[in-house]
Amino acid sequence: MSAADRAETPASGPDSGSGAAKRDAADHDAAGAAERVIPAGYDAAASALFEPTAIRGMHLPNRFVRSATWEGMADEEGRPTPELVRLYTDLARGHVGLIVTSHAFVTLEGKAVHQQLGVHDDTMIEPLAGMAAAVHEAGGTIALQLAHGGLWSMAGADAAGDPIQPLGPSVRDTDSGPAGREMALADIQAVVEAFAAAAVRARMAGYDAVQIHAAHGYLLSSFLSPLFNRRTDMYGGSLAGRARLAVEVVAAGRAAVGEDYPVLVKMNSEDFVPDGMTVDDMVAIAALLTEAGVDAIELSGGTSLSGDLGPLRTRAGIPQDREAYYQDAALRLNRNVRVPVMLVGGVRTFAGAEHLVNAGYADYISLSRPLVCEPDLIARWERGDRAPSTCRSDNRCFYKGLKREGMYCPHVAAAGAQPGASGDRS
Ligand SMILES: Cc1cc2nc3c(=O)[nH]c(=O)nc-3n(C[C@H](O)[C@H](O)[C@H](O)COP(=O)(O)O)c2cc1C
Ligand code: SF4
Repeated sequence: MSAADRAETPASGPDSGSGAAKRDAADHDAAGAAERVIPAGYDAAASALFEPTAIRGMHLPNRFVRSATWEGMADEEGRPTPELVRLYTDLARGHVGLIVTSHAFVTLEGKAVHQQLGVHDDTMIEPLAGMAAAVHEAGGTIALQLAHGGLWSMAGADAAGDPIQPLGPSVRDTDSGPAGREMALADIQAVVEAFAAAAVRARMAGYDAVQIHAAHGYLLSSFLSPLFNRRTDMYGGSLAGRARLAVEVVAAGRAAVGEDYPVLVKMNSEDFVPDGMTVDDMVAIAALLTEAGVDAIELSGGTSLSGDLGPLRTRAGIPQDREAYYQDAALRLNRNVRVPVMLVGGVRTFAGAEHLVNAGYADYISLSRPLVCEPDLIARWERGDRAPSTCRSDNRCFYKGLKREGMYCPHVAAAGAQPGASGDRS
């Protein structure tokens, strides 16, 4: 990100010297009152959360991001369905500043789950363009998340009917034996090219940015992790070796889309598994990714092997005064990286979100599950009704997707409200 663009982002890191919007958190602790009352004369613009910013020319009306959330609502080829488009336009009408789509697979063998969006070939450009246009029409800004499932890709078969082994940095040891196939250098080169081609398709389809998924143990994240990456070649071993694939993907994406298009990354703060990526690793890798051309980093954490500390935590074991799961790591990142930090995971209150921005933990607040049960949460907070998100973090929405029902919040449905702000999902 250029210095000029960074200057457009008022609340930069606490050590950057430009933190105009970093205010004393104590000013705001009282502001998160839980009652549904709109204060007389409430001025949404007074909150740093509603300051307009820009990331490499992408103008954002507020500091709220919809974190990528797989809905299980694409068709089996990976095209958006009308119900999925409606979900995104609901988010746009709900004043989410930046909507990041669910993960879109960049190659067929990197497809992670059924009814996932795809951006793996040129036939996807037109259907994806329809969704971007609908979001723009509804006043929103949208980034496409680019992903490869790596060792967690779906089992499939090739044209001859032989099983396709999921690709990874190294074979994975499981209770039932070795799983996956260690990628050859040619496989790695093909993945770099696939991400770059997908980024170009996203731009052609009208998306305002791309976000490269390097979190949660999927392909790029697994290369970063000493647990999954046991390679001894140039793509493993040292920190620079483990980071090489992600760096090459970012650099190739940047070269493919040009200098005037935002390239974001989502990465883990740490893996929360023995021998996994640490916070120290993350800070060093973030610097390498920034050098390679990344414009903002969204910080998450965990893998599917992390148990209670996986990416979709329930509240169990989380002290109430530490609402955001990765806030300490975010503070370290924000102090050490020159691009904006987006923080996801656990944020449920307006006061908590405001504190994180004002105290310099993050520049943007990302939300996933709260926007499943309340697509208009940001608009509600903007109106001055600052009651916390009603999300219980119990992941029942996720299981609805896994059961092929399409993701929705059953609690909202049971209460008689419509799942989406614009009406029935049927
Ligand atoms: C149903 C569901 C699907 C998800 N799909 C994705 C995804 O496609 N890509 C991604 O990076 N994270 C995905 N996540 C993780 C979320 O983006 C987010 O990191 C996590 O839910 C923690 O944030 P929250 O506490 O605000 O929900 C998903 C989460 C849920 C609940
Ligand atoms: S099912 Fe509803 S309450 Fe539970 S995590 Fe999902 S959105 Fe939140």
